[in-house]
Amino acid sequence: MRMKIIGTGSALPQAQVDNSQMAEWVDTTDAWIRERTGIGERRLSTGETVASLAAEACLKALEQAGRKAEEVDLILLATCSAEYLCPSAACQVQAAIGAVNANAFDINAACSGFVFGLNMAQAYIQSGMYSRILIVGSEVLTKMTDWNDRGTCVLFGDGAGAALVEAHEEGDSRMLGCIEGADGTKGMVLNCRSRMIDNPLFHEDREKAGGLHLSMDGREVYCFATRQVADCINQVLKKTELKVEDIDLFVLHQANVRIIEAVAKKLHADLSLFPINLDRVGNMSSATIPVLLDELNREGRLHRGDKLVLSGFGGGLTYGASVLIW
Ligand code: COA
Repeated sequence: MRMKIIGTGSALPQAQVDNSQMAEWVDTTDAWIRERTGIGERRLSTGETVASLAAEACLKALEQAGRKAEEVDLILLATCSAEYLCPSAACQVQAAIGAVNANAFDINAACSGFVFGLNMAQAYIQSGMYSRILIVGSEVLTKMTDWNDRGTCVLFGDGAGAALVEAHEEGDSRMLGCIEGADGTKGMVLNCRSRMIDNPLFHEDREKAGGLHLSMDGREVYCFATRQVADCINQVLKKTELKVEDIDLFVLHQANVRIIEAVAKKLHADLSLFPINLDRVGNMSSATIPVLLDELNREGRLHRGDKLVLSGFGGGLTYGASVLIW
């Protein structure tokens, strides 16, 4: 059984914040942010939630595909910034869109979450367990960022993207192969602590446990990303017996334009094959790839038969790449 993406959708918060606005909040400049990251503006939640953005993106994907919410078997929602630990954001989306026949759960693999979700969907479809799956990446990261830390708060934005996949037997569209990995030994280079242990026997010291905001060693993450992303794309190409020249588009996680340029250089691939939207939306973690995919799809830049590489990387540390025939 093959997996085909039959619809995409995305949703962004209303509020747009450019670099000059950021410069009023922290000690930074438009020039610094653009030069070091490529980011010009991002969206910030003014009440939109992981679940509400995800539900909107899912409804758009369903509408585009001409399918009803009741026809969905599973909702896989990738996020690391959900409002609730329980219920999962996926269950909230299931209720909001009326996907009454769907199972639903969250995946936490930070910025690799959407790619991992797509790979899981492929495994479920191949096994015959589910045949119509919504994969969503949704984040309201700005609730986790430290608005006093200019090194991180300028990087992130909020948003959601979704893809509806379906099992099919005819036509070329399918996933050709994937690679995934994690390196927990480097996990703390990009971390955000959850609640403290606090019970009648033990009260964890908040100072010792670290802050409740996102904390990052930017250089370590940068080095990891430039090395690991090119490596895992090369691995997945080898596995699928394809060459860089066979690929029509490389849809990469949008963290930093310099990371994307470095990966393109390592692969000896033309930078024009790496679509970029981080200048407008910043790093939305698990949402970046599906939002970009939806933009490309709606702009008519994806054609049936095109070969795409999707690659995500980030907290965990985690990384993954998939090759699809659109
Ligand atoms: N505005 C102005 N100056 C800033 C700044 C900002 N927003 N953020 C940091 N600086 C300053 C630093 O304080 C430092 O000043 P100093 O030299 O006086 O100490 C200087 O800029 C250089 O900081 P540094 O952290 O070394 O910059 P960098 O070139 O490594 O760029 C990142 C920082 C975060 C842009 C870069 O490391 C990066 O993109 N890393 C990957 C992060 C990422 O993508 N994370 C998510 C992965 S999914």
